[in-house]
Amino acid sequence: MNGPCILGLVLLCGSGLAEENVLMTAVRLGGKTLGTLVQSTNLTGTLSGTGPFTLFAPVDKAFKALNQSVLEKLSGDKELLTRVLSYHVVSGNVTSGQLKNDMVVDTVEGTSKLRTNIYGSKVTVDGANVILPDQFATNGVVHMIDRVLYPLPTQNLLTYVAGTPSLSQLVYAVSMGDLIDFFKGGPFTLFAPTDEAFGRLPPGLLSNLLLNKTALNNVLEYHVILGTVYSAGLSDNQRVQAANNQDLTVKIEGENVIINDAKVTTADVTVTNGVIHIIDTVLLPPSVAAGYS
Ligand SMILES: *[C@@H]1O[C@H](CO)[C@@H](O)[C@H](O)[C@H]1NC(C)=O
Ligand SMILES: *[C@@H]1O[C@H](CO)[C@@H](O)[C@H](O)[C@H]1NC(C)=O
Ligand SMILES: *[C@@H]1O[C@H](CO)[C@@H](O)[C@H](O)[C@H]1NC(C)=O
Ligand SMILES: *[C@@H]1O[C@H](CO)[C@@H](O)[C@H](O)[C@H]1NC(C)=O
Repeated sequence: MNGPCILGLVLLCGSGLAEENVLMTAVRLGGKTLGTLVQSTNLTGTLSGTGPFTLFAPVDKAFKALNQSVLEKLSGDKELLTRVLSYHVVSGNVTSGQLKNDMVVDTVEGTSKLRTNIYGSKVTVDGANVILPDQFATNGVVHMIDRVLYPLPTQNLLTYVAGTPSLSQLVYAVSMGDLIDFFKGGPFTLFAPTDEAFGRLPPGLLSNLLLNKTALNNVLEYHVILGTVYSAGLSDNQRVQAANNQDLTVKIEGENVIINDAKVTTADVTVTNGVIHIIDTVLLPPSVAAGYS
């Protein structure tokens, strides 16, 4: 039965055939690319084993949306591909109802962990939407997702920011505010303004902030939400409380996510203790902005 089911022949496989393992189920439900990639690694054997496994299976569209250079890199590096695919597999038969907000889950990959979030009725894994949950198979359960979980998060928030050349002003401000230890905690959502964003601040504002740690930290904490809010958790006209206890306003305009008057230029960078959204404007609490208008 495996042959025809892997090929997704509807008549032979039907829906939810009792003999389908997690991989066959994922392939039938729109994960053909995943099936092909898994077969090029030695994970096929694992996933046909008794498990049970939970497979977060990206649909074909998710692979299409990957940067071509990423896809080429994965296809050319079996070891990396195996790691990335194993990162989509969790030991055990974990239903969507068992996932909690900001839950961190071990994977078969072994080093990087997944983060699940619940936003109202949405369930996400590393920010990817679960679009078809709880498809049971002989050896576990499949949740179809709309994104490939790549790259694997290996850096924490600070190491990511410190390693990103366009965020050097932010790194400097965080160190001047003595917030290094704060950012080692989490989980956090960080709206990270680029150096260009800092460059557009009114003259004198940044230098004044750097002289007053209380004022500086108030501004920096206005860029942080306690807990992990991926784009899937943001909606139009939503107000979210920042770590300085003041509210940020979210706008969704077409494809764009706007926080107050800052545009998110790179969304959903997964780090081990949260998520980073890169923004093009520094967020100023109204009282601070008023002093420079
Ligand atoms: C794809 O990835 C390459 C290398 O990482 C990068 O230079 C390029 O800008 C990316 N393209 C898109 C469309 O994201
Ligand atoms: C599967 O592949 C990985 C990485 O290529 C390798 O380390 C491992 O030993 C292989 N396992 C089996 C059972 O062949
Ligand atoms: C997984 O859990 C579901 C729901 O509790 C159950 O019906 C199914 O038999 C379980 N499957 C395995 C392989 O343990
Ligand atoms: C530093 O900033 C805080 C908060 O904005 C303000 O209350 C305080 O007066 C400032 N201190 C100095 C010395 O300017």
